[in-house]
Amino acid sequence: MPIALSRRAVLGGSAAAAALILTGPGGAAPRVAVPLPAAPAVDPAASRLHRFAFAAAERPVPLLGADVPPVKLWTYTETPFPVLRVGRGDRIEAEILNRLPEHISIHWHGLRLPNAMDGVQYLTQPPIEPGQRFVYTFPALDPGTFFFHPHCNESGQVGRGLAGILVVEGDQRRPVDGDMVVAVKDWRLAPDGRFLDFVTPEGASRAGTFGTVRSANGRTALVETVPAGSDQRVRLLNLDSTRVMQVGIEGAEAAIIAVDGHAIPPVALDASGVETWRLGPAMRLDLLVRAPQAGRTARLLDYFAAEPWPILTLRAEAPVARRRPFDPAILTRPVFPEPDLRQAERLSFTFSAASDSIASFAEATGSDPAGRLLMDSLCVQDRTFWAIDKLSWPNARDPRLPPPLATLTAGRTYRLELVNVTPHPHPIHLHGHVFRVLGGSEGAPVPHAADTVLLTPKERVEIAFVAEPGDWMFHCHILEHLETGMMGYFRVV
Ligand code: C2O
Ligand code: CU
Repeated sequence: MPIALSRRAVLGGSAAAAALILTGPGGAAPRVAVPLPAAPAVDPAASRLHRFAFAAAERPVPLLGADVPPVKLWTYTETPFPVLRVGRGDRIEAEILNRLPEHISIHWHGLRLPNAMDGVQYLTQPPIEPGQRFVYTFPALDPGTFFFHPHCNESGQVGRGLAGILVVEGDQRRPVDGDMVVAVKDWRLAPDGRFLDFVTPEGASRAGTFGTVRSANGRTALVETVPAGSDQRVRLLNLDSTRVMQVGIEGAEAAIIAVDGHAIPPVALDASGVETWRLGPAMRLDLLVRAPQAGRTARLLDYFAAEPWPILTLRAEAPVARRRPFDPAILTRPVFPEPDLRQAERLSFTFSAASDSIASFAEATGSDPAGRLLMDSLCVQDRTFWAIDKLSWPNARDPRLPPPLATLTAGRTYRLELVNVTPHPHPIHLHGHVFRVLGGSEGAPVPHAADTVLLTPKERVEIAFVAEPGDWMFHCHILEHLETGMMGYFRVV
């Protein structure tokens, strides 16, 4: 789970402010977190409408350099990984035309929005078939770093690059010198630039099938030049299908300032990979990095690899930004429906390998009207390896939309215990909600809100949220896992 294994005090503005004290895992020193200030209310008169027009298509991109034929990526726009920037309280209207040979959708990962805009084929909307258009429209309620992707054949479609980034601004109380998006994704490529199989039985039944080429923003080595001493907001997204990263930094002072887009009292990041954050697929971290002196470089690294992999190299050059003490407490407090733990209803879900789930699932569908809806082969796989509470997402043998994992009441707080009984990590994502991560078998994490929580092998974690009306997907975000059983949904009425 995303515990920052911090032995240092949490960085913060004024130590005199009312402090929240936590004891870290394993008898670590207490952490002192200074609460963040509230954001000013959104002024509806200042809200803007942003219109986006996408055409999802195959586009050749020279991912592997000039000597190798361009890779045939699938992208929503002319450039891979488009970055949309809007303001808190603004409205988004995104029209998508499908020029790909199979159906697609756009799921807005991490956003609280009306269920009909959630972009899950069959569950919340019909598939957008080749040649068809669909318009998504919703307000951007929460500031932060989000992304979007389709929801059937995710391993193949996201595997070919079909994803984009949504930045909702309006959470800063102080400007920074730079704001950059860093989207990490591996590619399953042969040396000649052709894609390898996105799903393998060996990978799907274990930790996932890893890519052969690592990249950040579509580049195998991402280098950015920044003014010496400047403060850079780095929005780091793990858009990989499989890989868990462990993020650390060398050569610069840095702090984690938001998790899954939602601000936290800053937590120092260090070089050793000791003070670090585990970032599973779909998880995001916002960092504030103080660029080094002119002529020096700093490197953001993934330590969860055989050799630490440089995610981003920052090269500092003159002019030198004015020098003041590094204070990463630049964000305001996130605002979302706060769970009321005293009134919470408790539920428990176990994430396991598939058992004899197919039979029990087929019985269960018989009693649910939604069970009559047939899904197509893009939305189910041939094999099943995983289950949530002994039920698996259907496979090709019985491709009917299953009944919900649970029916919840809108407006109520739910406290979910998530139990991983497998020897593999699973980043568990709930659509359309922001939840509090309460902690679990590994101790108390830095208090934070999230939309995806990493369950490490054999770990138990608790989360809490206020249920919003609709049918909301709940699944592992290792794409091969969700496609081979570790997926379900909640019906909130
Ligand atoms: Cu990125 Cu169903 O999620
Ligand atoms: Cu998983």
